[in-house]
Amino acid sequence: MRALLLGVLASGCGAAPSLPHGTDAASCGTCHATQLETWRTSAHARGTASPVFQALLPRVEAAWGAAARQQCVSCHAPAHGGDDVVSCVSCHGATGNRGAKNGALVVDLEQPLASTKTRVQNDAHAVAPRGLLTSASLCGTCHEVHGPGLFDERTLTEFRSTDGEDSCLSCHGVGGVDGHRFAGVDPAWGAPSAERAEADGRGRALWAKGLALSVEAEGQGVRVTLTNQARHAVPTGVAMLRDVWVALEVHDATGTVVDVPRLFDLRAALERDGLPVALITDASRVTTGALDPRASRSMRWTRPVGVSGALEVHVIVRARAIRDDVLEALALQGRGDEVTTHEVARRTVRLPAVQE
Ligand code: HEC
Ligand code: HEC
Ligand code: HEC
Ligand code: HEC
Ligand code: HEC
Repeated sequence: MRALLLGVLASGCGAAPSLPHGTDAASCGTCHATQLETWRTSAHARGTASPVFQALLPRVEAAWGAAARQQCVSCHAPAHGGDDVVSCVSCHGATGNRGAKNGALVVDLEQPLASTKTRVQNDAHAVAPRGLLTSASLCGTCHEVHGPGLFDERTLTEFRSTDGEDSCLSCHGVGGVDGHRFAGVDPAWGAPSAERAEADGRGRALWAKGLALSVEAEGQGVRVTLTNQARHAVPTGVAMLRDVWVALEVHDATGTVVDVPRLFDLRAALERDGLPVALITDASRVTTGALDPRASRSMRWTRPVGVSGALEVHVIVRARAIRDDVLEALALQGRGDEVTTHEVARRTVRLPAVQE
């Protein structure tokens, strides 16, 4: 009753009647401090602040035009509720979409805020259960990018190619005190070092959850297999920026005998006129190197001729959120130490000496 009355009064002076205390994240946070604090350290609260995003923008405009640049900005900073970021009401005010892609959310601040509970009455604002809030379509409306240019992120399509519950939350969870961080693999650009270390820890744990490594002795060598355990490709989204690779170090009694820095990797191949390029804005063709959901990739390594002693083969999976060649091409080497090279997994297999 009171909300209704306030609504009528407020609509008279042009404010959003169902949210008399304000629509931006800071206003929500005066009452929901935990959600504000965890959301603040999430990629969603970054808007357009990523240095990689900033450095790409002028190149996007040069390659694909001013409208393309605007497309980038309007998904990263949709301005729902007045914030130039993905804000509280981007999710809690969304009532539907105009197609599950390209950020085409419909946000209606006249409606009660979406909740998972059937009854949460309070004096501050109306709340109602809305299935969209916990569905993959909410996330997928932004996490499915068809352009501009060669920008192509198909997380929702990848996800929908798998069976299971229609939600991203079981792995990127919102439940619990940490929920609104929406853990991903990006560095917490520019944050104090303790906050960056925490983000790194979450990123490393997520890579480790996504990629299962198995290594088996096979004849005079080993078979290395990487399996995707996520419900989308690994890497997904901005896969053209990511670097994931498998390295191999082989020791015998005297030390390292073989060092294979990259046995294979999950990098995208970007090229123009048949030559490799670092940036998507310079490319005319992109070939994905990602692993499809539930897929495996396998590679064999064989002991070199002339190496006959007992061997210890260490297989290591490493990942970097942003490729070095991308940082370099964007003149961001100076920010390189904010991008951690994670050791995601390591296995060791022993091969007995061979009889000669
Ligand atoms: C003046 C205080 C106040 C403000 C401002 C406020 N809320 Fe609330 N909100 C509450 C109270 C009180 C509840 C009911 C108790 C609870 O669940 O915390 C609630 C409940 C909710 C719920 C449902 C919680 C559940 O358990 O399902 C959501 C979602 C929510 N608010 C989001 C927001 C968003 C988004 C904003 C900003 C647009 C906002 N609130 C602004 C006080 C406030
Ligand atoms: C990317 C989407 C998204 C954004 C952004 C977001 N939320 Fe949520 N929020 C959710 C989802 C999904 C749930 C339900 C989680 C569940 O029940 O598992 C939720 C739950 C809540 C709840 C219920 C209690 C809880 O923590 O589970 C409150 C209150 C809330 N959000 C407030 C906020 C506020 C305030 C902001 C901004 C500072 C915000 N949310 C930003 C998606 C979002
Ligand atoms: C309004 C658009 C929008 C919605 C809705 C949205 N996201 Fe996002 N999300 C983004 C953008 C844009 C980024 C990247 C921001 C950046 O890195 O600069 C992002 C980043 C993320 C990241 C971090 C990626 C990384 O590598 O660190 C995760 C995880 C994520 N979102 C999950 C979700 C989930 C789960 C939902 C649904 C509950 C959701 N998002 C809803 C736009 C959205
Ligand atoms: C079964 C668990 C699982 C589910 C469900 C899931 N993810 Fe993920 N997600 C992961 C794992 C593991 C990673 C880390 C590996 C990687 O980076 O791909 C990840 C990484 C991400 C990243 C950032 C890393 C990248 O590769 O760019 C985004 C963004 C993301 N997920 C979005 C989503 C969205 C949106 C949904 C729902 C449509 C979803 N995820 C559903 C497990 C899951
Ligand atoms: C429809 C929504 C949408 C559009 C349009 C979009 N993005 Fe994104 N962007 C996302 C989402 C979602 C993520 C998180 C995906 C992930 O982590 O893999 C993301 C992540 C990124 C990141 C990673 C941020 C970081 O620092 O790690 C960069 C850089 C980026 N986008 C640049 C761009 C550029 C440049 C454009 C325009 C050519 C663009 N995006 C257009 C949704 C969008």
